[in-house]
Amino acid sequence: MQFIDLKAQYQVIEPDVRARIDRVLAHGQYIMGPEIAELEQQLAGFVGVRHCIGLASGTDALLAAMMALEIGPGDEVITTPFTFIATGEMIALLGAVPVFVDIDLATYNLNPSLLEAAVTERTKAIVPVSLYGQCADMDAIGSVAAAHEIPVIEDGAQSFGATYKGRRSCGLSLIGCTSFFPAKPLGAYGDGGACFTDHDGLAKAIREIRNHGQDRRYHHPRLGLNGRLDTLQAAILLAKLAIFPREVELRAQIGARYTQLLTERGARTSREGGVPVLTPYLAPETTSVYAQYTIQVEDRDRVASALGENGIPTAVHYPVPLNEQPVFPQSVSARRTPNSATIASRVLSLPMHPYLTDDLVSDVVAKVAVAAGLDR
Ligand SMILES: Cc1ncc(COP(=O)(O)O)c(C=O)c1O
Repeated sequence: MQFIDLKAQYQVIEPDVRARIDRVLAHGQYIMGPEIAELEQQLAGFVGVRHCIGLASGTDALLAAMMALEIGPGDEVITTPFTFIATGEMIALLGAVPVFVDIDLATYNLNPSLLEAAVTERTKAIVPVSLYGQCADMDAIGSVAAAHEIPVIEDGAQSFGATYKGRRSCGLSLIGCTSFFPAKPLGAYGDGGACFTDHDGLAKAIREIRNHGQDRRYHHPRLGLNGRLDTLQAAILLAKLAIFPREVELRAQIGARYTQLLTERGARTSREGGVPVLTPYLAPETTSVYAQYTIQVEDRDRVASALGENGIPTAVHYPVPLNEQPVFPQSVSARRTPNSATIASRVLSLPMHPYLTDDLVSDVVAKVAVAAGLDR
């Protein structure tokens, strides 16, 4: 069994991928070829915003978004400690201080009720992460931010395609950032990412930043990066985007099936707690793309190795909250983010991709039930 089965997906899209790659090989515009604008237009339409800017990775998307907002030394940026390193890393790389605010125990996303106390006059942005494919509570976060006139950047690296109150992830705040890392819900065959915004000035700034701060050829009004999305990756993403809405539906169905089968065995949701296995809680008016299907289990490492011995690959996203990482020695003490510490010790991601069959899901659930003691 595969944790993520990219080969099964390739079988569905092979002719289109090959035709699109051939077209790039024929025109030869490997940097900023026509596929970039075509993809950006389709992605902006999908999200429902005016501008999409393709970038070389999700990490570069976060970096370019924060550079466009002129975040730098002396600034503070509020984010969650329970995320992939890139979120906090790009804040610190710009010389700003990541201020880690704890998560909600049910959704694992930034807890909006803790935000107000973390805001200072130095706060330059709030970067919620829509973890595992479910959007953070963007309206609640947005209203605290609006009261202080602080911009919000959604790190939607894991949630591209998810909805929140009927709107799409990455279109829920001033700037949304996503990743096209191969394992992501919309993944390329290499690195890639994008920023989304309705703000014309920020879109222009991000376009310049991704191309060495250049506004016209060899004229550089600002500092930038070599942060362009690759034409070949854009061509592959165009093929994948054609089947993406269907894959989003399949992901939701497979996530729901996992939850249903685990519940039948006695699991409860992460909101309820109290049993050895907790399924992911979906907040009202949200859909998840299940970038990960992540459960909580007691004695996680033992359960993971028992599953591994039974041929079920698992992963831990993420074992160490960012404020406990050695690279952030000055950050908020771990004692002040107890939920992140607890959840980091309990989460376990199960195999998840749109081509997982009912039989495979049942098999994983049966083995989780034995390994985690649900059947006792
Ligand atoms: C939450 C989060 N933020 C940022 C990133 C960075 O994306 P990339 O790997 O495309 O640079 C990732 C992906 O790994 C992620 O999961």
